[in-house]
Amino acid sequence: MDDIPGRIIENINVAPGYFRLVIRLERPLGKASPGQFVMLKIPGEEVFLRRPFSIFGSRGKTLVVMYRVAGKGTGCLSQALKKSPVMVLGPLGRGFTIKKRDAYLVVAGGIGFAGTRMLLEKLGEKATLFFGVGAKEELSVAEDLSGICVHVSTLDGSRGFRGDVVSLLGQHLDACRQKDMEVFACGPAGMVKSLRALLESGHIPCQVSVEERMACGMGLCFGCVVATNDEINPFKRVCKEGPVFSIWDLSL
Ligand SMILES: Cc1cc2nc3c(=O)[nH]c(=O)nc-3n(C[C@H](O)[C@H](O)[C@H](O)COP(=O)(O)OP(=O)(O)OC[C@H]3O[C@@H](n4cnc5c(N)ncnc54)[C@H](O)[C@@H]3O)c2cc1C
Ligand code: FES
Repeated sequence: MDDIPGRIIENINVAPGYFRLVIRLERPLGKASPGQFVMLKIPGEEVFLRRPFSIFGSRGKTLVVMYRVAGKGTGCLSQALKKSPVMVLGPLGRGFTIKKRDAYLVVAGGIGFAGTRMLLEKLGEKATLFFGVGAKEELSVAEDLSGICVHVSTLDGSRGFRGDVVSLLGQHLDACRQKDMEVFACGPAGMVKSLRALLESGHIPCQVSVEERMACGMGLCFGCVVATNDEINPFKRVCKEGPVFSIWDLSL
């Protein structure tokens, strides 16, 4: 983990409210595993605390982040011009653990796709992606998915299954039950809750990347804790022990 200066070389609007940010770093980011993230200093003086973003892509001195405008920090970031200086702390946290399985089902809700992008690259053709968004315009967030089987849901029914992504997964789950499979997920808290309810009966292995507000991103402030079922030490730091946890360990 390293704090690296860099400059924005691209910050483009890829879908309503979604931006693709490309940063040229002074030094390469250390080896990143799927599910890890960076803490990014937003250019300018307006936003003091850094914000966490999944590593969407990383090669040499180039880092790619996909983000959705959620509030002040991401709003300011969307206005940042080419060549603006940034600071990037990372790679941080514990990512997904990949065990040898027959099949991998990857569930991404909206900008949660950013947290699964590197994972999909690593799993390749053994992965099936279930990607849920509000409307078809948001689908352009998922790029370069050649060789991966993709099922799409939209809340407004403008493309694919009409409804949420967990209901979509529910329609395909029975066909996979006989296989040695694992589910990986990244998305909003509501999605994680309903995913757990869906998987409960089969107690299917499932790792989930959890979103929590962060201040330091390095395990120092305990501002990002989540409750788990661990009887001795129930509160875990998302930035340090996570962001990826077994869904069965979380106290939802
Ligand atoms: C490990 C990790 C990886 C992430 N990866 C990405 C990513 O790749 N792309 C992306 O767009 N976003 C990602 N996020 C979420 C992103 O960090 C927040 O959207 C961002 O910090 C919001 O900052 P803001 O100043 O724009 O919003 P704020 O003004 O701080 O908040 C706006 C709204 O968003 C909510 N919010 C703020 N932070 C979070 C959070 N961490 N989780 C859920 N809700 C939050 C607030 O409660 C509020 O309702 C990630 C979060 C974590 C913890
Ligand atoms: S953000 Fe400070 S401990 Fe996690």
